[in-house]
Amino acid sequence: MPDVMSLEGKTIVVTGAAQGIGQAVASLAIGLGARVVGVDLNGDKLNALAAAMNGRLLPYVGSVADPEFTEATVSDVKARIGAIDGLVNNAGITRPAMIEKMTLQQWSEVISVHLTGAFLWTQAVGRIMVAQGKAGRESLGSIVNISSDAGRGGSVGQINYAAAKSGLLGMTMSAAREWSKFGVRTNSVCFGVVETPMTETIRGDKFLAVTGERQVVGIPFETGKAVHKLVGGDVVQADARAVIDPIGSLGIGELSALIPDGPGEKPAIGADR
Ligand SMILES: NC(=O)c1ccc[n+]([C@@H]2O[C@H](COP(=O)([O-])OP(=O)(O)OC[C@H]3O[C@@H](n4cnc5c(N)ncnc54)[C@H](O)[C@@H]3O)[C@@H](O)[C@H]2O)c1
Repeated sequence: MPDVMSLEGKTIVVTGAAQGIGQAVASLAIGLGARVVGVDLNGDKLNALAAAMNGRLLPYVGSVADPEFTEATVSDVKARIGAIDGLVNNAGITRPAMIEKMTLQQWSEVISVHLTGAFLWTQAVGRIMVAQGKAGRESLGSIVNISSDAGRGGSVGQINYAAAKSGLLGMTMSAAREWSKFGVRTNSVCFGVVETPMTETIRGDKFLAVTGERQVVGIPFETGKAVHKLVGGDVVQADARAVIDPIGSLGIGELSALIPDGPGEKPAIGADR
């Protein structure tokens, strides 16, 4: 039986690959046979990860929200490797503040990284995937946008983040509508709270006291597995709900049903928020 999780021979671009969920997604992809293009602002961490991956991770240091860096990186990857099979729009930041105190700068920075950044990478990589689809390439393109429960239910002290993550869902569905006919699948995953540097401040008792929200915490490795259920095209196409979906995109929040409940595995998404 073929290994349905295999990413052998595929090239996957992962933004925000230097730590947290992005690092887990990148490491797991490499473990599954892919070559990973890792993008991150943090050059020290990204280059250290690349060194540990024995040439399987190509590091590109810069901001996802910088259009010139985006174009230059994607052109370089195309020239060096030829094809791109997957894109995981994962890079992210938080700039928390209650609504009445949030500055325009806090608002703009979060929108710029999560929303504009994801748009720029979707456009640049998607153009290549669409051309590949038109040329009849067998391996379908797959774009996975890392959204959040905050994008579905809002978030106390993070109107900027919740708005960006909701926007990402609209972007996902629009790309799925435009590009599924070219064999490019676009999906989102909405994680609850995952144990990464980003959530250090909201995993403590202090946060619980302020919001009254008890967090169920997932671990990055499990999020990586969820993402690769989507990146590995064969898996999604074998799933009935994906096949019957009119726009070729998994319903938001349905992904949890695709994750095997093997021994010792906790559900990483759909966390109780
Ligand atoms: N951790 C959670 O609980 C959780 C839950 C739902 C969704 N998410 C989303 O998952 C993604 C990853 O989160 P994480 O918890 O791993 O965060 P993290 O802070 O641990 O890692 C984010 C990475 O993105 C990089 N980055 C930030 N701005 C960048 C930019 N402009 N250009 C390039 N790289 C940039 C950082 O350097 C870092 O390596 C984010 O989009 C986040 O919103 C996280």
